[in-house]
Amino acid sequence: MSQTIIVSNRLPTKVQRTDDSLTFQSSEGGLATGLGSIYQAEGNMWVGWPGLFVQDAAEEQYVTEQLRADSMRPVFLTETEIRDYYEGFSNSTLWPTFHYFSQLATYEQAHWDAYVAVNEKFCRAVLEQAGPDDTIWIHDYQLLLLPAMLREARPNCTIGFFLHIPFPSYELIRVLPWRAELLRGMLGADLIGFHTYGYMRHFLSAVSQLLGLPTQNGQIETPTRTLRVDAFPMGIDYERYARAAASPAAQEYEVTYRKALHDARVILSIDRLDYTKGIAQRLRAFALLLQRYPEWREKVCLIMLVVPSRDQVTEYAALKEEIDELVGRINAQYRTISWNPIHYFYRSLPLEELASLYRLAEVALVTPMRDGMNLVAKEFIACKADNGGVLILSERAGAARELADALIINPTDTSQLVEAMHDALMMPLEEQQQRMAAMQALVRRYNVFAWTRLFMNQLAYTKIKQHTLATE
Ligand code: F6P
Repeated sequence: MSQTIIVSNRLPTKVQRTDDSLTFQSSEGGLATGLGSIYQAEGNMWVGWPGLFVQDAAEEQYVTEQLRADSMRPVFLTETEIRDYYEGFSNSTLWPTFHYFSQLATYEQAHWDAYVAVNEKFCRAVLEQAGPDDTIWIHDYQLLLLPAMLREARPNCTIGFFLHIPFPSYELIRVLPWRAELLRGMLGADLIGFHTYGYMRHFLSAVSQLLGLPTQNGQIETPTRTLRVDAFPMGIDYERYARAAASPAAQEYEVTYRKALHDARVILSIDRLDYTKGIAQRLRAFALLLQRYPEWREKVCLIMLVVPSRDQVTEYAALKEEIDELVGRINAQYRTISWNPIHYFYRSLPLEELASLYRLAEVALVTPMRDGMNLVAKEFIACKADNGGVLILSERAGAARELADALIINPTDTSQLVEAMHDALMMPLEEQQQRMAAMQALVRRYNVFAWTRLFMNQLAYTKIKQHTLATE
């Protein structure tokens, strides 16, 4: 019987060392939820990094056994590999380039070498598990070379690849010294998925201009195979968020927070720490709102949750300092004894508490400079029940292609963002509810389970079609 193997840089369980014991913490992320029914099914598995540097062979064996019981196969990485492959090539070369921050990208041969070596390491780990006719679904920019490596070793496997970040214009991709190798790596897959048609078109254009391959109707002809490229906008586990928001715990948090905020109206901002998210720009826009519309002073506050991320990468550490400084400056300028303009938290929160913030907020600011999709926008929508709420959404988030009832803004236009905040705070409840209901219907329907199903069905269909063509 053929099996399905999921591969991503991180496993859905994170192993952490606390004092002298190890803890195993399941990820609550959308991907883990969406793929749960696949990798946990009999014979299937998920291959990835458990987030821990093991101390010796005994510990490695212990972690392997524990994870194996939950259908996971760990790939152990050393501190040097994490520095050069993860912080280096993945997050200092690919991440800035693919998000149109080329000026922040570094081009280090040692980082590239580590990227190749770690992709090979993942390849060996998958090959230990994969039979000749298995289905392998690879995720994201850390593993762009893996599809071709696996294809070479297992020519008959069904291989899917999904990119969770934007695929940028050809002009950005062509800057990379290793552009052809990266594209060829992806072409090992049978089906390549993106969040939007825009990213898909950029990819097809790069393949045609850099590799000279024919691309037509979402298909790429290589000398040996025809492969398919398509858009699959990722969703969330809608009911999980809706349930969390309706839970007694979330309602209690909401009551407590409202009291503490003296019933001030709430604008909400939630992000992982990242320069792509436009956090500093958003703070400046909020300060301008208070300056341009003094009537909102003491009436409105911004709750800003920044979830720690990649803090070993220089740019992230610098951004953290910039945010700390901006929040301090704006609060010092505008606060009164009974009102604080910005409530800033640098941590992650449990689901019910997060859901209570979504309930509390009248306006959510999702204004990234670039974002593959942005699931915070969808989580806000799922938590709003039927009481309105306005989403202000950047036109450069993948989610803007679907959520046309949000207030869509250009995140570099601070003035437009200020006006959008003002309009959102003034919007009649009825209009809020109409817009929210339309977005809820869409986000509920195209949830993460539908996303998984669509991709897997399309992958199976692509393979059948290839087979039919080959035998004709
Ligand atoms: O958006 C891309 C992504 O890799 C997500 O899949 C992930 O949740 C997030 O960035 C954070 O990534 P990490 O902490 O693994 O660098």
